Amino acid sequence: MKAVVYRGPRNIVIEDRPDPTIQEPLDAIIRITTTNICGSDLHMYEGRTSVEKGKILGHENMGIVEVVGPGVRRIKGGDRVSIPFNVACGTCRNCNDGWTSFCLRTNPTEGVDGAAYGYANMGPYDGGQAEYLRVPFADFNLLRLPPGRDHELDFTMLSDIFPTGYHGCELAGVVPGDSVAVFGAGPVGLLAAHSAMLRGASRVFVVDKEKDRLALAGKIGAETINLSDQDPVEAIIEATNGMGADRGVEAVGYQAHDPTGTEHPEMVLDNLVKAVRSTGGIGVVGVYLPEDPGAKSDLAKQGRIAFDYGTHFAKGQHMGTGQCPVKRYNRQLRDLIISGRATPSFLVSHELSLSEAGDGYARFDERRDGYTKVVLHPAA
Ligand SMILES: NC(=O)c1ccc[n+]([C@@H]2O[C@H](COP(=O)([O-])OP(=O)(O)OC[C@H]3O[C@@H](n4cnc5c(N)ncnc54)[C@H](O)[C@@H]3O)[C@@H](O)[C@H]2O)c1
Ligand SMILES: [Zn+2]
Ligand SMILES: [Zn+2]
Repeated sequence: MKAVVYRGPRNIVIEDRPDPTIQEPLDAIIRITTTNICGSDLHMYEGRTSVEKGKILGHENMGIVEVVGPGVRRIKGGDRVSIPFNVACGTCRNCNDGWTSFCLRTNPTEGVDGAAYGYANMGPYDGGQAEYLRVPFADFNLLRLPPGRDHELDFTMLSDIFPTGYHGCELAGVVPGDSVAVFGAGPVGLLAAHSAMLRGASRVFVVDKEKDRLALAGKIGAETINLSDQDPVEAIIEATNGMGADRGVEAVGYQAHDPTGTEHPEMVLDNLVKAVRSTGGIGVVGVYLPEDPGAKSDLAKQGRIAFDYGTHFAKGQHMGTGQCPVKRYNRQLRDLIISGRATPSFLVSHELSLSEAGDGYARFDERRDGYTKVVLHPAA
């Protein structure tokens, strides 16, 4: 099969690889119809992770079940499925509690709970930016979709960023009537804004510096704040009569930067602490790493982010963090798509074939105007 392989910083190649096979009785092999490039893939692409050369990338996958192992009962060949980015066993303590993003059994890496396809430190699993993908514990992990091709670009957001945006709102505690400040208008931030509206937010502010992304946020009804033009904290405080927003979502991560492009890993956390009212909630789904050898400061190299914890404490805010347990939300979000109440496909800007992946990575990484979300169709 053809696959998108990491060969080093900014070096992505399409290689021939053996087709995956059933290795365990609970495995399934999926023929990938759509697989997305994620902001998380860019951390690897830019050489800011320890991912090994030769890894097949891709954790946002969907497709058609080709074949299942002898222990698989619920899922059948021919089923159309969404594949959560989490590889979860379904039986450990964290999986039982609904925290499939912290599965205790699927990642052999010392000190790391939770596994994913095609990702640094997340276990030995190949990614799905390829023609086929092996899925362990298929009955537990796979979400069935209606057959056919309907809603393909909506359903492809169910493997990661739609649930992740929703998780940001859940961690922040968004309830009907809340005002919500979302930092980052990348795919995750845009779907956090969409999710906040689905949860009944009265006002949603979206902060970024990329005009095309802010325009999309405006199109779905958010109030946009360009950090190149104004101080986002002042803008949010002023818009909420001096109170601050009820909730905040961090959808940027450790490569947060100012309008000149200089990185400040604490910048968005500081802004959220200031822009969210006392006793409000903050959901952090943007990624922070335990170690970041590419960081500027010695502290940040060790994953130590010196943000305004004192004010966070003094304001009695709560903060939730971490990778999204996709299975907690994907069924409900699928049904919101089917009923027409959710349309996460609004952010797709480019549909490419697998052989065009190198270009897709490069342009999305530049945040080139108009490259808001790139999806690949390996079958094309
Ligand atoms: N927790 C999870 O399960 C999970 C899942 C998917 C992605 N992520 C993470 O979420 C983050 C966002 O993902 P994405 O795909 O949207 O990435 P992205 O890189 O496309 O978007 C990030 C956006 O943040 C903006 N930004 C940078 N500095 C900023 C600042 N100071 N203030 C406001 N905006 C700023 C950038 O301009 C960009 O538009 C990444 O860190 C990604 O790794 C987490
Ligand atoms: Zn992703
Ligand atoms: Zn588990």
